[in-house]
Amino acid sequence: MSYTSRYAFLRKIWVVVAMHSVMLWGCAETSPTSEPSQPASTNASEPLQTFQSKLECRPGEVSEQTAAIVQALEPHCADCHNTGSRGYFKSVDAFQQLIVNNPSMIVPGDPDASEFVRLLKGEGTGAFTQMPIGVQTYEDMVQAGTAQLGVDEIESWVRALQQGDMSSSSAPDTKATRVRRLKASEIERALYTSLGLDETDFFREELSHTNGIDTLIRYSDKLYPLRSPDALPASYYGEPSDRYLSLGGFSVIHQTVDDTSYAPAALLTLNQVSQAWCRLAIKKQGNTTLFGAQASVPSSESDVKSIISRWSLHFLGERFDEDQIEELYQNLYVTVVMEEDQEAALTGVCSYFIRHPKWIIL
Ligand code: HEC
Repeated sequence: MSYTSRYAFLRKIWVVVAMHSVMLWGCAETSPTSEPSQPASTNASEPLQTFQSKLECRPGEVSEQTAAIVQALEPHCADCHNTGSRGYFKSVDAFQQLIVNNPSMIVPGDPDASEFVRLLKGEGTGAFTQMPIGVQTYEDMVQAGTAQLGVDEIESWVRALQQGDMSSSSAPDTKATRVRRLKASEIERALYTSLGLDETDFFREELSHTNGIDTLIRYSDKLYPLRSPDALPASYYGEPSDRYLSLGGFSVIHQTVDDTSYAPAALLTLNQVSQAWCRLAIKKQGNTTLFGAQASVPSSESDVKSIISRWSLHFLGERFDEDQIEELYQNLYVTVVMEEDQEAALTGVCSYFIRHPKWIIL
């Protein structure tokens, strides 16, 4: 499915983040005083110990039962949920805040009404019907013996949860898991993968006449090519790296660090890049990433609406409902078609998704 490409890219970032967080994680008292109660894991592996020391850093904030649930599920979920707004398994705090305190995931006392439990059983009611995604649900894994903690035990945990376990204080939590916008390098990669584009759409490689070094020659600056000043081969022109820097990209050569603030220059650049790249992607022959198996540009009302539905899932990870599709179709697509043409209208819809807050944040 199309979202998996963006997902694969997020995973790569996670590997880097994970390496750093393991190195940076420190806790003054590491001697294990309170083992999480059942279901205690028997294979005390290295990652588990790291995880337990995380538990001891801030005792009392999360119940022991919840911590034990996190610990048992972690090996099956953390690979995909360790960062960003879906970083449920980044820590027990993250799980508490993003799952336990989230009424659309857990209804204390009522496992059947809790989407979280339904997902484990393959009975999810949202865009995803099961977790982990793939062939086996969590429940299947328990039956196959690859996961230990039974779904019935998770149900008992939800049944025992009280309203009071949900949120301890209304004061903002400064340690809460936060989301940030994508970095310049992430924007570049995410745009390439989600629009079905690659470097050959923007540049051709050529040996420079002046110094004999491989360089990238851009086809047209109107395509808004983007390139880190540090990337090799380097771009022959300066604009691609100016754009990269104005998106907040870091550079060793320029001695700048990543800037993920919502600076006007970054948003303006993203705006222009999204429009230019969407148009290029829409024009690209046989772009299955954008248009699916038939890879044809839609023109009838129903085809355009099904593309809007497809793109909502593709770019934002959630399927728009009929009202949202209708609104986007009438207010954006139809308006632009009347003033310009179909290609411009589709470009407008595509770049709408890229400027959407849910696309920009990680
Ligand atoms: C192979 C990767 C993968 C694994 C493993 C995985 N998930 Fe997910 N999960 C995803 C993706 C992808 C999404 C959708 C993310 C998005 O919308 O951006 C998701 C979404 C979710 C959501 C939100 C669902 C919704 O309706 O909003 C929950 C909750 C969740 N996962 C829990 C889990 C749990 C619990 C496990 C372990 C039992 C797990 N996941 C294992 C990839 C995975």
